[in-house]
Amino acid sequence: MAEGSHLFVQRIDTPAERRQELLAGLLDRPARIPPKFFYDAQGSALYEAICALDEYYPPRTEAAIFDRYQRDIAAALPREAQFVDLGCGDGAKAWRWIEALGVQRYVGVDIAEPWLRATLQRGAHRFPQVSFDGVVTDFTRGLSLQSVLRPDQPCVFFYPGSSIGNFEPAVALRLLREMRHHLRGADRLLIGVDTPKPMAPLLAAYDDALGVTAAFNRNVLRVVNRELGSDFPLVQFDHRAVFNDAHSRIEMHLVANRPTQVRLADGLQRRFDAGEAIVTEYSYKHSAEAFAQLLAEAGFGAVRHWTDEQRWFGVFVAAPGAVSS
Ligand code: AVJ
Repeated sequence: MAEGSHLFVQRIDTPAERRQELLAGLLDRPARIPPKFFYDAQGSALYEAICALDEYYPPRTEAAIFDRYQRDIAAALPREAQFVDLGCGDGAKAWRWIEALGVQRYVGVDIAEPWLRATLQRGAHRFPQVSFDGVVTDFTRGLSLQSVLRPDQPCVFFYPGSSIGNFEPAVALRLLREMRHHLRGADRLLIGVDTPKPMAPLLAAYDDALGVTAAFNRNVLRVVNRELGSDFPLVQFDHRAVFNDAHSRIEMHLVANRPTQVRLADGLQRRFDAGEAIVTEYSYKHSAEAFAQLLAEAGFGAVRHWTDEQRWFGVFVAAPGAVSS
């Protein structure tokens, strides 16, 4: 890792806890697999391929909003801040803000330690004047960076890509509240959120012509087989994406295409009927109004919002509210 960088390692789930979580979901009705299990090396590569698809509009729409409004957005953010990149991955989305904001310290937060190290290394090489630190944590289990952040320097919390969309509203609210509790004064949250839109482009984004999303979805069964020692036959599960109107979310399912008996672990088995589904992901689509409401409930005050001409994606800058919730 880069010289002078600090890596703070917080608690992440043990393999036994991951197995427990997988088993509990797979024995439930309907069966479910939490979306965090998508992202092994192959799943992460497939997600990158999704982001390059014509049909998958979020990355390019968010980037276009950043391109068009970067000066406005930057003017709403503190300068010379600590830039906290939540779920930083390869850091690529953050780099443009380092220059635009005169960031002094980058704090990458991610669950995957080897990648985080590589990201800090690359960042430090590219921006030698900036300090690069990292926190290894699963912040869906709680966000606690008070001991990592310098109290005398403003912060920008960065959560792009509509990652917040993976969480059910109550969980999203909890996470936003935890972000809010880290912010004071000039500190801000910069967050990207996917919005409801016509059904055809929405469904195509989650069921593309090349079948990349199908491969990404099915790949989670490889991850499960490896982690549990189970024997899910990948070819017996089909990818399905549906929009659940009542909850304003895309749901990804894996549907058994014939009756399938699966050995899970510890002598546990589960039978899937033909047509029976495993729920692998929710991707909530928040309208600008609904998301502003969620931010207010989480204790944020002044909120600014930018969108594209079609209103397909929203970028928000939120300030901490007067009353801490
Ligand atoms: C990483 C949660 C933003 O919900 O659009 C992409 C994941 N799943 N295609 C999303 C995903 C299928 C993605 N997020």
